[in-house]
Amino acid sequence: MTSRRNPGKSGSRQNEPSTTALSPKISFETTTPYDAYVRASTLAELQQTKTEVPGEYMFLVCSQIMELYFNLINFEWRHAQHALREDDLGEALVTLRRSVDHFTALNASWMSFRWMTPADFNAFRDDLGEASGFQSFLYRHLEFLLGFKDEALMRPHKNVAGDHYAQLQEAFIAPCLYDDVLAYLARHGYEVPDVVLQRDTSRTYDTNEHVEDMWVALYADTTHGDQLRDLAEVLTDIAEAFSDWRYRHVMAVRRAMGAKGGSGGSAGLAWLERSLARNAFPELWSARTRI
Ligand code: HEM
Repeated sequence: MTSRRNPGKSGSRQNEPSTTALSPKISFETTTPYDAYVRASTLAELQQTKTEVPGEYMFLVCSQIMELYFNLINFEWRHAQHALREDDLGEALVTLRRSVDHFTALNASWMSFRWMTPADFNAFRDDLGEASGFQSFLYRHLEFLLGFKDEALMRPHKNVAGDHYAQLQEAFIAPCLYDDVLAYLARHGYEVPDVVLQRDTSRTYDTNEHVEDMWVALYADTTHGDQLRDLAEVLTDIAEAFSDWRYRHVMAVRRAMGAKGGSGGSAGLAWLERSLARNAFPELWSARTRI
């Protein structure tokens, strides 16, 4: 993948005057430059439904759209982690805000599922076999970046061809986004306990009362300007947007299959509701009671 950072390249087209031709170019050999770049024809080949049931097409397309957004958000968060490690708070903030906008678009995709009754879902559900979003490695990667680490959830990918398992293992042991935020704050004068800074990052981030104190102090402190508070707020937006995704998913499940067992083998709704109860960046929420 080429670099996303290319600000103000000299001689770029932004400085060129518009041509006199009114219409776009309409003649190309073999492929259009658009398709060569966007790969729309490749994308259009990826909707291989199992049935002729029209609703299944929506189900497949929207699942694919969500996977693409998972990947995009993953890219943004890793970029933000990199910026934080370089003490580039401005770049981290812009990137994290962009990811919140992506979540807004991602979560809007759930609107396409509202029409689906249990009868509509039953019309193709059996044809999906044991396929379940539970097996989404891109979603699992996002959870790891948010600090939710559960080794058992990597197992579905263990024997799968390709490097998904290796990528997940790497993300599993690596610091999560919150670890990088707390390390940044510690480097910039905030009191983050060593036990947190040196924690075993392959474990789910566990709440710490001194980190809560630190957020309380940060929200009270105006000497650093508003940027650190912006950082706290954009993380809060991210945690909320992720919970929104989970909530919309739970509602789609309730509408389409009630409390039936999941195709991935879980108790379905009851299992999903348990995950919904967990918030990312826990002290950003608990600190609010004291601010
Ligand atoms: C009406 C549509 C849907 C239904 C009824 C449904 C149902 C379920 C159920 C029952 C589970 C629990 C695991 C299992 O036993 O299968 C699950 C998990 C999951 N589904 Fe869906 N799902 C739907 C749409 C989607 C879509 C569009 C996505 C997007 C990729 C998705 C992603 C996931 C993910 C990531 C999990 C794992 C959640 C976690 O581990 O906390 N689901 N789904």
